[in-house]
Amino acid sequence: MDDDVVLSAPLFATMEREETRRLFESMTEIDLSRGEVLFREGEPGDRLYVIGSGKIKLGRRSTDGRENLLSILGPGEMFGELSLFDPGPRTATASAVSEATVHELAHQSLVSWIEAHPGVATHLLHALARRLRRTNETLADLVFSDVPGRVAKALLDLSNRFGEQTDEGLRVAHDLTQEELAQLVGASRETVNKALADFAARNWVRREGRAIVLLDVDRLERRAR
Ligand code: CMP
Repeated sequence: MDDDVVLSAPLFATMEREETRRLFESMTEIDLSRGEVLFREGEPGDRLYVIGSGKIKLGRRSTDGRENLLSILGPGEMFGELSLFDPGPRTATASAVSEATVHELAHQSLVSWIEAHPGVATHLLHALARRLRRTNETLADLVFSDVPGRVAKALLDLSNRFGEQTDEGLRVAHDLTQEELAQLVGASRETVNKALADFAARNWVRREGRAIVLLDVDRLERRAR
């Protein structure tokens, strides 16, 4: 059951447990299979989502068809709120990277919820500020860091969300294809592959299909700086 992780989302950060549970129960649960698109960039949107399980990628497509991933979100994280706070079309396409369950809330219900529980707004602002901070960092990395540095950073970022400590190291089941990993880093698949092969040759990581084990987090952190 993923209720607890969903209830830890900023949206539910109020003390009134009963009301929180009622709001949660009023949300529609949607199951997605890998690759399924929930909504597309440019569409009008009137709902937001909290992830119960699995991973969701948020991506944008350039006019010539290239794709860039803004973020990979996991359980307890929220998306689809921007078109409410700044009315306009969806700013990204949301699709499932793995099998996933999301909980859907109409924007109108969110507005009523915030009006009844103004404290929730502070938590939502906190989540948005954290996202802006991360986006600024990604932007600076695109300008100032080389591809291996960005790959190291992306792996560490994914490990914070999806890492699992094992005897060997921090295992990150990212579920991303090589192409998706490259889109997240903002480089070609070949360059990202080369960086990963180099990390593996140095024994900093071990690759396992759609997972990667971080064997030397300290080195990766230094490379990411
Ligand atoms: P919305 O524009 O309604 O639909 C796409 C969603 O992607 C957006 O709301 C945000 O929730 C999310 N999103 C957009 N940009 C970013 C980003 N840079 N980092 C993480 N999530 C984002």
